Amino acid sequence: STTLRLGIAGLGTVGSGVIKIVQQNAALLTARSGCTIEVAAVSARSRGKDRGVDLSAYDWEDDPTKLAQRDDVDVYVELMGGEDGPAKASVEAALAAGKHVVTANKALLAHHGHALATAAEENNLNLRFEAAVAGGIPVIKALTEGLAGNNITRIMGVMNGTCNYILTRMENAGLPYDEVFEEANQLGFLEADPNLDVGGIDAAHKLVLLSSIAYGTQVDFPAAELQGIGEISIDDIRAASDMGYRIKLLGLSQMTENGLEQTMQPCLVPYNSPLGQLEGGTNMIVIEGDSVGQIVLRGAGAGEGPTASAVMGDVMDIARGITLPVFGTPAAQLVDTPAARSQAP
Ligand code: HSE
Repeated sequence: STTLRLGIAGLGTVGSGVIKIVQQNAALLTARSGCTIEVAAVSARSRGKDRGVDLSAYDWEDDPTKLAQRDDVDVYVELMGGEDGPAKASVEAALAAGKHVVTANKALLAHHGHALATAAEENNLNLRFEAAVAGGIPVIKALTEGLAGNNITRIMGVMNGTCNYILTRMENAGLPYDEVFEEANQLGFLEADPNLDVGGIDAAHKLVLLSSIAYGTQVDFPAAELQGIGEISIDDIRAASDMGYRIKLLGLSQMTENGLEQTMQPCLVPYNSPLGQLEGGTNMIVIEGDSVGQIVLRGAGAGEGPTASAVMGDVMDIARGITLPVFGTPAAQLVDTPAARSQAP
């Protein structure tokens, strides 16, 4: 049997989670792919830190770009994050060196997805990012594979677990925004820049990636209309509740006569609906297609196990020899669609 060798850059919760799966589920990974999956080398900011995983068998690289180019790396797994900087440089280097890439980096893809997809596809390489959108929920696989025969008409959903946690906690405990924000911070839920979460930016990154896959359009982050949850008061939440609604940071993406509409904003959703019932740090994606009708995907949108699960799903496709266009449709055929301005108040 053949061996697929990973180079993993970034050993935070997700990177450690990936290593745990590779170590603990080795037999089933091999049985299902016909490949032995190994870690060749790793890279992270601090070498000495105890991450609760045994790294002793792996080479260490200080420079992720060098890791991405190593001869003994077949798949470069980028789990550092960041829209530019080392993440972008190392992913570009990996693709130029003929390596498949798996990443959890939504900001990188939302801003540079088209150029990176072009680079990957010119070299017949995978650039996979299931872990970038809704953590453990395999929504990209659902759209690119299971739903590939559908004309997708609409995508809606809660795509940031932190905002959902803050909003449901404010409601359930009757606590003001500032207090719950601090609590979320203590629990380690917030991104290094909390505005990515509460400003709706992280969720909008995910939404524009799904739009591109669903409609075959070029990723257009600047066109997304976006409003965060920082202005929501406990009074707003109570008023909504009195009417039988909850406030959710809701993403909506649909192709209209006027172009692609992509909004991420606080919305009222009926309490007695799947979205209205969504509690805590969970994500939910609702997809509508002309043949399938409506489907609902729900699960953990963040965290070690769920995000590592998504990374490994991508690694497994590569181990099985599957190569797909990065956004489902080849980058050269993705259309540049005008952005529709929503009529929402
Ligand atoms: N901060 C993100 C969230 C993590 O809360 O959903 C996953 O992207």
